[in-house]
Amino acid sequence: MNITSTSNIARWIRRESSHIFHELNPALRRKTAQWESTNGVNFLQQIGVKKSDIVIDFGCGPGNFCIPAARLVGANGRVYAVDNNPRILKKARRKADALGLRNLRTACNLSILMPLPDGRNCDVALLYDMLHFLSVSERKDLYATLHEVLAENGLLSVYPKHVQDDDPRRNFMAMTTKDVAREIEASGYRLSRRLPIRVWHARDIVDGIVLNFVKRGRIPSIQRG
Ligand SMILES: C[S@@+](CC[C@H](N)C(=O)[O-])C[C@H]1O[C@@H](n2cnc3c(N)ncnc32)[C@H](O)[C@@H]1O
Repeated sequence: MNITSTSNIARWIRRESSHIFHELNPALRRKTAQWESTNGVNFLQQIGVKKSDIVIDFGCGPGNFCIPAARLVGANGRVYAVDNNPRILKKARRKADALGLRNLRTACNLSILMPLPDGRNCDVALLYDMLHFLSVSERKDLYATLHEVLAENGLLSVYPKHVQDDDPRRNFMAMTTKDVAREIEASGYRLSRRLPIRVWHARDIVDGIVLNFVKRGRIPSIQRG
């Protein structure tokens, strides 16, 4: 067994034991439920998500943003929760079912959702704490796909975690928040807002920076962020 596989196994054990701890810890469960029902909804409103919006939460994880988003957009809106980890995606699905959130759809990749059902474009795409998982070319492909599916006044909202100055990991070891913003701007977007905000990360609400982008080109008729 080489060092890489040993450290991968160690990382997996750490992650799994932390998931189990989370599942069994009533205080953490209460905090998560409160985020998903109240604080997370307020957070998304501040970001620019509105009732009846179509939202894509790419790299949704267990549902920390797609669940409050589904509550916020209501019956006339829709949330597409995408994650390539089937076990995690199932968690988000189970939560949505338990809460009766029938406006939330799950998918293991974005391409199976294209074009979006109902013939509507996406109002808000969330890339929260997930870009560091992707290589440069995967990120550029993702920005391009979202560019196609976003409405003219649509919002690309990014929480770039694990960058160089904030617990760097994976593909962001040498990237700063400014580098991420520059990369997205070079892919056909304009940074419209930089929000210092309290945001959910891992198991807690922390201070974070969310970057809101709009598509470059036509001036949006409704300025969202
Ligand atoms: C750190 S979690 C963040 C989850 C959620 N966005 C949040 O902020 O709570 C990152 C998630 O991105 C997912 N992910 C990583 N690469 C992906 C890809 N290529 N396609 C879809 N999901 C991906 C992982 O499975 C994981 O659930």
